[in-house]
Amino acid sequence: MTAVARITTERLILRQWKPEDVPAFIAMNEDPDVMRYFPGPLTPQQSAGWADNCRQMLDRQGWGLWAVEVQSTGEFIGFVGLHAPTIDLPFNPCVEIGWRLKSTAWGKGYATEAARACLDYGFRVVGLTEIVSFTSVVNTPSSAVMERLAMKRDPANFEHPSVPPGHVLREHCIYRISASDWLSTQS
Ligand SMILES: CC(C)(COP(=O)(O)OP(=O)(O)OC[C@H]1O[C@@H](n2cnc3c(N)ncnc32)[C@H](O)[C@@H]1OP(=O)(O)O)[C@@H](O)C(=O)NCCC(=O)NCCS
Repeated sequence: MTAVARITTERLILRQWKPEDVPAFIAMNEDPDVMRYFPGPLTPQQSAGWADNCRQMLDRQGWGLWAVEVQSTGEFIGFVGLHAPTIDLPFNPCVEIGWRLKSTAWGKGYATEAARACLDYGFRVVGLTEIVSFTSVVNTPSSAVMERLAMKRDPANFEHPSVPPGHVLREHCIYRISASDWLSTQS
């Protein structure tokens, strides 16, 4: 087991998952607003499995999809982090950055704040040379986070293999940022 990175930002803590996070995670993944750009809400069993996979991934490699907590209140608000997708994507192998927060935590800059810390960790500590992010083209709140991170959008979109042909969520855009571009903008 590797030591799990605990990352502190101005307002947030990115940390290992706790059993107490699971009920809030289940409620979050049942919220139709949160799951609007996914095929559907998750069942409690699916959410519990997700949380367990995230916990195991962090234990195994020390980094991954961290649970996010608000420092001032101790509230669990979702996850942000890094993940190497295993599905058959046209740009694999890669490491992606991703986020999902409960709707009461939107509009505060939390996703971007946590994601900046994850990019920095991925480039400086893990030693990644590039990090990508992708989302359905209709998920503009998510692509806005990518833009705020100064990630660059590829000119071509791709069809997500897990979404059925013809589905409104199938067409995805992909953004990238290199270690050199990220590090050149940091002091
Ligand atoms: C994607 C998601 C994380 C984006 O959340 P978000 O709150 O829009 O993004 P941020 O946390 O970066 O917050 C930015 C907003 O907070 C505002 N904000 C308020 N206070 C702020 C502060 N102190 N600092 C920075 N921004 C602040 C910004 O102005 C911006 O508002 P705007 O969108 O009206 O311009 C959220 O919509 C979500 O969890 N969606 C469901 C899951 C999902 O689709 N995940 C992506 C799958 S690919």
